[in-house]
Amino acid sequence: MSQQVLILPGDGIGPEIVVEAQKVLDVVNSKFNLGLVCDEALVGGAAYDEFGSPLPESTLAKAQAADAILLGAVGGPKWDNLEDRELRPEKGLLGLRSGLELFGNLRPAILYPQLAAASSLKPEVVSGLDILIVRELTGGIYFGQPRGIRTLENGEREGFNTYVYSESEIRRIARVAFESARKRNKKLCSVDKANVLEVTVLWREVLEQMAPEYPDVELSHMYVDNAAMQLVRAPKQFDVMVTGNMFGDILSDAAAMLTGSIGMLPSASLDKNNKGMYEPCHGSAPDIAGQGIANPLATILSAAMMLRYSLNHAQAADAIEAAVSDVLDQGLRTADIYSEGTHKVSTQHMGEAVVAALQKG
Ligand code: NAD
Ligand code: IPM
Ligand code: MN
Repeated sequence: MSQQVLILPGDGIGPEIVVEAQKVLDVVNSKFNLGLVCDEALVGGAAYDEFGSPLPESTLAKAQAADAILLGAVGGPKWDNLEDRELRPEKGLLGLRSGLELFGNLRPAILYPQLAAASSLKPEVVSGLDILIVRELTGGIYFGQPRGIRTLENGEREGFNTYVYSESEIRRIARVAFESARKRNKKLCSVDKANVLEVTVLWREVLEQMAPEYPDVELSHMYVDNAAMQLVRAPKQFDVMVTGNMFGDILSDAAAMLTGSIGMLPSASLDKNNKGMYEPCHGSAPDIAGQGIANPLATILSAAMMLRYSLNHAQAADAIEAAVSDVLDQGLRTADIYSEGTHKVSTQHMGEAVVAALQKG
């Protein structure tokens, strides 16, 4: 039976990196006889320009019907000043996450040994780094109500958001994190701000209540400010980190840099049945869009995660990851991961090198 994959290129570098991931998918599709059928749709600014909405109903319907989704990135200066905030490209992405109930966001930060020199930290601090950040993705301050900007009696305006998590929302993301830790090095660090915010006092309590169900997992807690510091001081102390939507957004960008570049960090966003959307952790990089220099590896590695988590093709996923390692062994580097003695290549060259490595392997 065929599996349906929906491709959403999005904006900025999105189309440039997605097209390379698609070449890689095409190769594994025939090589491993996967029977994947790919379709494409618009999301973000590209969808706004065409249909007047960052998430047209037709795109959401296709996403709901697909077995998995691969997304590039959304957003850009062209749409930053839209009067109606609901029409911003980012709302398209947030609408997909909430519409499909993709609450479990996995962001693995792995340092490929070949990239030790590209990390901004000393090789001995990062070598062997392998962290999984589990980020709650459909709740917290991103979605809490009430929210808005209002005018006070004195004529001054104030902006407000609500940071809220219910016990069941905490429990389901904690379960993803405990289960992930169980399959790895069995250490789970929950990141919160329980010294100040009640919502995270509850978060901590729920994790503690669940800990006895996972006696093999060592649970610890850390305040988010300390966690940010520890990530750049001694990142290898972490195995799995679990946190809410906003803290996870920030910490995963910091963790990305440990691996050499944000252009290396893939992600999976999963619902309760492991149906998922896969995307690089980075954005649409308007500063380099259209130049053919963006790193497509985070997107290619996201495609590998898609094969592993939602489509059950672990062998094809392994092959893609091995091919990425192979091109790094060959010394090929996009500008963001370039270091002296390596060979600088374009987005397209990098994608095609992964394809060649797959065909050879
Ligand atoms: P960004 O991640 O797009 O870029 C940050 C920096 O990293 C830039 O200097 C960029 O050139 C670089 N970079 C990012 N991806 C790269 C890659 N693959 N290869 C090489 N360099 C890369 O973040 P930003 O500049 O804060 O945001 C730009 C736009 O993207 C905004 O509209 C934002 O809302 C949006 N955004 C979208 C997503 C998403 O779609 N998931 C994620 C983050 C930001
Ligand atoms: C990410 C992005 C998004 C987020 C934005 C574009 C809505 O930064 O995927 O990390 O904040 O979740
Ligand atoms: Mn982000």
